[in-house]
Amino acid sequence: MAGVKLAGVSKVFGNTTAVARTDLEIKDGEFLVLVGPSGCGKSTTLRMIAGLETPTEGDIYIGDRKVTNLEPKDRDIAMVFQNYALYPHMKVFDNMAFGLRLRKVPRQEIEARVKEAAEILGIAHLLDRFPKQLSGGQRQRVALGRAIVRHPQVFLMDEPLSNLDAKLRVQTRAELIKLHQRLKTTVIYVTHDQTEAMTMGTRIVVMKDGVVQQVGTPKEIYNNPVNIFVAGFIGSPPMNFIKGIIENTNGKLLFKAKGITLPLPATDMAVPSNTEVILGIRPESLAIVNGENNGTQSISCEVEVVENIGSETIIHARTQGKEEVVIKASGFDKAPQMGMVMKVKASQGNMHLFDAQSGTCLITFAILA
Ligand SMILES: Nc1ncnc2c1ncn2[C@@H]1O[C@H](COP(=O)(O)OP(=O)(O)OP(=O)(O)O)[C@@H](O)[C@H]1O
Ligand SMILES: [Mg+2]
Repeated sequence: MAGVKLAGVSKVFGNTTAVARTDLEIKDGEFLVLVGPSGCGKSTTLRMIAGLETPTEGDIYIGDRKVTNLEPKDRDIAMVFQNYALYPHMKVFDNMAFGLRLRKVPRQEIEARVKEAAEILGIAHLLDRFPKQLSGGQRQRVALGRAIVRHPQVFLMDEPLSNLDAKLRVQTRAELIKLHQRLKTTVIYVTHDQTEAMTMGTRIVVMKDGVVQQVGTPKEIYNNPVNIFVAGFIGSPPMNFIKGIIENTNGKLLFKAKGITLPLPATDMAVPSNTEVILGIRPESLAIVNGENNGTQSISCEVEVVENIGSETIIHARTQGKEEVVIKASGFDKAPQMGMVMKVKASQGNMHLFDAQSGTCLITFAILA
């Protein structure tokens, strides 16, 4: 097993910078998830670690070895892709054994490793079947098995679950987490799915336009996003953003937008009056104010759509400034009706102030209910 290090690595294709100068250290045994929208450079980063692309600049290390100029086969990594084409004319056993045979691993060793991997993946009873005799999830596990038998230092996975249907994806996700706990091999996993990133990663790297935006544990990224991009990308439904200004009266800060005057908790931060900001608050941090009017603490908005999804209700509403606000409430008992005007207030979690120009998070407040 080994950690992986990227030192000033970039990749330029013609006039596209797929990956801008990136420094990243993946610890030995870590499950690191690269996440971001389509085209942000996730696969390119992974392919450079695998040796399938050469960096335009910078160096890559696996353990203590500089591997920048090594062939993929000499890097001691195993990759699982989205399109994990299995050999259709080979049985499961032979599909899994194929790479080891190429490497001239002794026959008994191959047999032992394939059996071991098949046990781990729960496909020991399928070794005699052809791929076409398997379900999608089983085929996926064979593809993983092919990587596991290699006993690599590092697993590289590029959207390995995206061909599976929703239910199977959730199930296989859990299996991968268990697999990692058992093998403790370093995994670098690429996905554009923020739920996958949040549930699987020991740490997450959020990328945009070839640039790493933030690296942190799922909790850090969720609770303390460094900018509006990360704040909006991680979390579902996404964080609400309301444009407004800050009014600073002798250090007492007020957030003001059309129809909204929101006192902010005390802070040392010197934000000058009239600074344009965007207030960020997650749907589950908002609660409907019942009964008495809470005055300046609450935000008045009109209900547009109410989605009951059983365990929770998602309410889409609009502020007087015509900005959409989404509220996540539990159960459906107290769900408001469409067209109704209601008041909501920040009730738990965090609130964030972003600079309206740069999108950088200026300050994160814990909401005191
Ligand atoms: N071989 C190539 N030649 C030219 N441009 C490329 C090449 N490979 C990738 N790119 C460009 O580099 C950028 C990053 O691509 P990459 O495949 O790394 O994105 P990604 O984050 O994996 O996206 P997706 O989620 O869609 O798979 C994109 O703008 C892409 O068009
Ligand atoms: Mg990709």
